[in-house]
Amino acid sequence: MKAMVLREPGAPDNLRLEEVEKPSPQKGEVLVKVRAISINPVDTKTREGKAFYNQLNETPPVIIGWDISGEVVEVGEDAKFFKPGDEVFGMVNFPGNGRAYAEYVAAPEAHLAHKPANVPHHEAAAATLAALTAWQVLVHEAGIQPGQRVLVHAAAGGVGHFAVQLAKYFKATVVGTASAENHDFLRNMGADETIDYNEYKVGDVVRDADIVLDSLGEENTRRSLQTLKDGGKIISILGGAKEAVQQLAKERNIEAKNYLVHSSGEDQTKLAELMAQGLLTAHVSHVYDFEDMAKAHQQVETRKTRGKVVVTVG
Ligand SMILES: NC(=O)c1ccc[n+]([C@@H]2O[C@H](COP(=O)([O-])OP(=O)(O)OC[C@H]3O[C@@H](n4cnc5c(N)ncnc54)[C@H](OP(=O)(O)O)[C@@H]3O)[C@@H](O)[C@H]2O)c1
Repeated sequence: MKAMVLREPGAPDNLRLEEVEKPSPQKGEVLVKVRAISINPVDTKTREGKAFYNQLNETPPVIIGWDISGEVVEVGEDAKFFKPGDEVFGMVNFPGNGRAYAEYVAAPEAHLAHKPANVPHHEAAAATLAALTAWQVLVHEAGIQPGQRVLVHAAAGGVGHFAVQLAKYFKATVVGTASAENHDFLRNMGADETIDYNEYKVGDVVRDADIVLDSLGEENTRRSLQTLKDGGKIISILGGAKEAVQQLAKERNIEAKNYLVHSSGEDQTKLAELMAQGLLTAHVSHVYDFEDMAKAHQQVETRKTRGKVVVTVG
């Protein structure tokens, strides 16, 4: 099979299409013929030799990627939830080695969900790592409740645009930060208020938030403490809740923590149900062919992508 292999960490061009051995599904796994892959900032960081590179390099050749949508073509021993012909999507083995930039991926069936029939593969692939992050942060970490006020940073991005929609689905009031050209997009996703981060410091203009989703890091996490009410929660997906920030938060009766998404077929199924009903949409702004993976990485690295970047296979 063909896979996008990384022989040396570095520039996007280091990703090369090569012939590699097709995986076979192990116990509890299914073999998925991949139709679409979504690309995340963690993919580009790993390609540069950061993030998960060392872990992936333990089992060469290094094949990056975690987010897939495709069709089950084979089932391993004890795999009982899916059968050949089923269309599935999910984030495979995260944190860990997903080996998703390939024509075939062996995936634990516990990491997958049935793809809704009315959602195309490129949109399903887009609603995996980023959508799971938004879901796990808001539902499991923050325990979102109707009527709460939720501040979503980088709301026009992959994680952000799912978080806005999900917070709205849970009947929260949603405030999103983005540059001005993305404000109509945020409103279409369900944001009640939009803040242009180029013009305002969010700590100066937002108050009484119950939940903040930070995806920008320590300085932003610290500044965002001012936006939270007594008893509020801030969850950083970029390690922003450093010890000093946690201490500051504690003094104000705010909970500040870091979070790393994990594969979950159960959560993916919840997202699939919302997508099937049209209550959650993946906005895919860029679609590339498999051989143009380097261009997909360059787009993610602009840090200006609206919604998601997807690569189609086959
Ligand atoms: N811990 C975890 O589990 C986890 C999971 C997923 C992602 N992450 C991390 O979270 C970060 C975001 O991921 P992503 O996939 O959402 O990224 P992304 O899709 O690449 O984010 C792009 C968006 O960021 C916005 N943006 C850039 N600078 C901004 C700023 N200063 N303030 C507000 N918005 C800004 C841009 O909006 P404008 O064009 O309007 O500027 C753009 O729409 C990444 O660093 C990623 O590695 C962590």
